[in-house]
Amino acid sequence: IAQRINVDKNAPPEVPYWIPYLGSAIAFSVNPIGFYEDNRKKYGDVFTYTMVGRKFTVCLGIEGNNFVFNAKLVDVSAEESYTPLTTPVFGKGVVYDCPNHMLMEQKKFVKWGMSNDAFRAYVSEIEEETRSYFQRWDNKVGGKGDLFTAMGELIINTASRTLMGPEIRGLMDESVAQLYHDLDDGFQPINMFFEWLPLPSYFRRDTAHRKMRDIFMKVIEERRANNITDKTDMLQSLMNQTYKDGTPFSDVDACHLMIALLMAGQHTSSTTATWALLFLAQEPQLVKDMLAEQKDVLGSADASLTFDALKNMTLLDNVIRETLRLRPPIIMILRKVLRPLNYTGTDYVIPKGHYLAASPIATQVDEKYYKDAYKFDPRRWESIVEEDSGETVDFGFGKIAGGGARNPNLPFGAGRHRCIGESFAYVQLKTLISTFLRMYELELTEKGMPGSDFTKMFVQPELPVEINYKPRK
Ligand code: HEM
Repeated sequence: IAQRINVDKNAPPEVPYWIPYLGSAIAFSVNPIGFYEDNRKKYGDVFTYTMVGRKFTVCLGIEGNNFVFNAKLVDVSAEESYTPLTTPVFGKGVVYDCPNHMLMEQKKFVKWGMSNDAFRAYVSEIEEETRSYFQRWDNKVGGKGDLFTAMGELIINTASRTLMGPEIRGLMDESVAQLYHDLDDGFQPINMFFEWLPLPSYFRRDTAHRKMRDIFMKVIEERRANNITDKTDMLQSLMNQTYKDGTPFSDVDACHLMIALLMAGQHTSSTTATWALLFLAQEPQLVKDMLAEQKDVLGSADASLTFDALKNMTLLDNVIRETLRLRPPIIMILRKVLRPLNYTGTDYVIPKGHYLAASPIATQVDEKYYKDAYKFDPRRWESIVEEDSGETVDFGFGKIAGGGARNPNLPFGAGRHRCIGESFAYVQLKTLISTFLRMYELELTEKGMPGSDFTKMFVQPELPVEINYKPRK
């Protein structure tokens, strides 16, 4: 009753809870998708729930996605939602620790480092890294492999070899891998709620941040001292940037942005690679078709992969698209409400101080848009024409079709905060998965398909994730 009395009559409906302060935190963290589905049936597309003393108002469906992703800067703030989590890990002055117009320019700097020419060089490097990584698996008879660990290590090795530069890749097997783990331990949901707690993992995170920045800084200084300008990696492209108003993008900023890219691309891509291979382990005919597609596009079964060939592998593309539809690593996107916000087409006013949440997975598994929505069926994408209104919006870092938010499939988000790494992720995943399929036949173990673990920052399969593999003849 007290909860109801406190509620403004125009506020969206609120999910009741029994434990003060904690609210719905337990139900939500066990199964957020089920929590949203159940409450959507009771309250509609827009409702509020409490977690750890904070109010979250989720906006579901296509209109909900559009409302959150295209909300105005004066109304909502991504920075106020994410900085307790991101600033200690990435460092100051970048991404959410600066005004939004600076982030838009930083995204433009990053785009320059993700050109097709850069990708052309990356494909053979990723293929080589993948082949060399699997030397440690049994390539005579096969066995049971730790798929999740393998994908995690491969994504970090390939991202550091390509985006971060050869110097960082050289350090990967020693110090940097450990620093990455310490940073990662400080990048958990708990940090959003209890950033003031003196947890040992926070001290390790802060030390790791400083050491990581120093490593990038040393590489920059050496490149400058030796007049090295011929590198095509991201670090080189960030070393010489200036904001439109003339403010230089400093070397420290470049180091911090490199750490941000490393963190943003790591679990998102490694969990996607893991899920994709788990789905494929159940689809031997699909794998045969994918190998036939490779042969068809490349002209022979063992020719090296190239960026241009990968672009023509549509079945492979659709496997990744379908994996991201069913298992998007990010299932909740947040903005803090800066002033009372009317939800379009209703009387609801979402109060200042609430966290506005979008959850695009709700439309991604909705029967309204996808027949047999929970079925893994990459071929469904052969007949889906993704809507494009033709209208484009320029957020400062490149034009985006229609603001992009009315598409039911949004694993990379939409609007001004849309992911900057989609094309790199596709290049990395396509190269890695096609190389893996050429090397091994795979099958699920007796444990079957793992469930999802929602307690992490990025949804991942419940560990351990093993796979039965057999080297191809
Ligand atoms: C933002 C998903 C890979 C860099 C985002 C957002 C999503 C997303 C949903 C929007 C967050 C929001 O609106 O609050 C993914 C998925 C990936 C992936 C599913 C892989 C399968 C990458 C990679 C990089 C990257 C490889 C960099 C190399 C970023 C950055 C942002 C972002 C910097 C922040 C943009 C902003 O707030 O304006 N990503 N991402 N991502 N992503 Fe990705």
